[in-house]
Amino acid sequence: MGDWWRTGVVYQIYPRSYADSNGDGIGDLAGIVAHLDHLAGRPDSLGVDAIWLSPFYPSPDYDFGYDVADYVGVDPKFGTVADFERLVDACHRRGLKVVIDLVLNHSSAAHPWFEASHASRTGPFADWFIWRDSPGRSLMGGRRRPNNWRSFFGGPAWAWDDARGQFYLHTFLPQQPDLNWRNPEVREALLGVVRTWLDRGVDGFRLDVFNTYFKDAGLRSNPWRLGGRGAWSWQRHVYDRDQPELHPLLDELRAIVDERPGRMTVGELFDGTLVDAAPLIAPRHLVFDWSLITVPWSAAAFKRAITARDAAFGPGRWPANVLSNHDQPRAASRLAPPGRDAAAIAEGDARAKVAATLLLTMRGTAFLYYGEEVALRNLSIPNAEAVDPPARRASFLFPWWNRDQARGPMPWSAGPGAGFSTGRPWLPLAADAARRNVDVEAADSASVLSVYRQLLGLRRASPALGDGDQDLVDQADADVLAYVRTAGDGAAFVALNFASRPAPVSLPAGPAGAGWRVRLSTTGRALAQDVSERATLAPLEALVATA
Ligand code: NOJ
Ligand code: CA
Repeated sequence: MGDWWRTGVVYQIYPRSYADSNGDGIGDLAGIVAHLDHLAGRPDSLGVDAIWLSPFYPSPDYDFGYDVADYVGVDPKFGTVADFERLVDACHRRGLKVVIDLVLNHSSAAHPWFEASHASRTGPFADWFIWRDSPGRSLMGGRRRPNNWRSFFGGPAWAWDDARGQFYLHTFLPQQPDLNWRNPEVREALLGVVRTWLDRGVDGFRLDVFNTYFKDAGLRSNPWRLGGRGAWSWQRHVYDRDQPELHPLLDELRAIVDERPGRMTVGELFDGTLVDAAPLIAPRHLVFDWSLITVPWSAAAFKRAITARDAAFGPGRWPANVLSNHDQPRAASRLAPPGRDAAAIAEGDARAKVAATLLLTMRGTAFLYYGEEVALRNLSIPNAEAVDPPARRASFLFPWWNRDQARGPMPWSAGPGAGFSTGRPWLPLAADAARRNVDVEAADSASVLSVYRQLLGLRRASPALGDGDQDLVDQADADVLAYVRTAGDGAAFVALNFASRPAPVSLPAGPAGAGWRVRLSTTGRALAQDVSERATLAPLEALVATA
């Protein structure tokens, strides 16, 4: 009860794309510090509780920072360790927590550990990565690989290294070799990284693909299966992720983190289901389970997703709710109706407000992705022009979405460079940046940004929304999703109309017979109005009432 990471809202920043302080077209730590008023500390701030920074470590950027060449450094393009410490101070002064991304499944091939490991089969780092001999030649004369594992980023998971005359394992790009977590020295070094960042004041960690740290000790081949699109799905991934050794490691990691009370961790579930996610959720450890991030615009589909998760997690596990991140299409695009005319755009924004209401009022910790608060859409960048490396490797065997589209520069203002940069942004600005930006939306009380602010304020003020239980309330209209959140004597009722026509909603009795009072409506319904038993929702109206 009362833990900040339960009731709180975490705002993900992709540092390359947030704010560029020196005109090189790439966002940086000083840029983030200059924009903290947007996030917290002022009456007109968004009012989030924490930021999560995607990687800012030195990196050759084969996977834009998710290939780390120094776990305790800051890449010069983002600033210095002193800049990071300034950022932490500036955040803490305004009551904002700082969560950082730890990429501990793999390093960059440019990390000195891998350079040493590949240079010598007998040196001190020889066993820091997962090296294997080739089991011989195939009939065609090629070197056979140690097993049938695939890379999630296309092709086999094994790359040949001439220097060692062996294969090494890479679950992602060949430039991202997997670390050998079974080596106690690796374990000690990586837990040391956790301690270093705790000493630097961080409040939590997002653990990249944490359920794939351990692979089967015997590196057995995965069983084949009839799959969907792409070679990855033609295997059952029973040996290359979700191994039992992860559980004691998580306990050890949590014990280290718990030496400083109030720190949280959230693990990114790699390619798994709700059933894989559930046992990995622990006190103060959340898991991104992806239940909501692919759900289409449909009340019934969201209801199914929520029900399935409740069934898998039970009442004790606390969910992490996410509609967008740096790997997936932006929610405002995914949920929008087809078309680019003014009506379709207005309807897309109305849907974004409904989605925001769902995200910020449903049970669980909410994670926002920068730009989501202005309903930023995907950029349109063809695969041929992609800078996202897996998009460049896409093929029939490896279908891949171009993640550049979700990583566009944050639009701050209508001025040149949208207030993001005075130089040439590393990815293009959104075509509508002059209209869709923080300044313009801040001045409009009916904007998507204003709805996010109101929702965050309401969530903070309502223990039922922050920490309460949740019960779906059945509705006669299939386009309406409704639920009640309850904590102690407080309750909140939420109704979401997914249809572009009015829809009836029936309300349950309030606790102890109390009536419901409207606290928020995304379509301008008068606040403080009493609603009870039956009401009519406006087209695409999201309504929150409290009792
Ligand atoms: C998950 C990250 O979110 C993604 O961006 C990255 O490419 C992979 N892990 C590999 O680190
Ligand atoms: Ca910069």
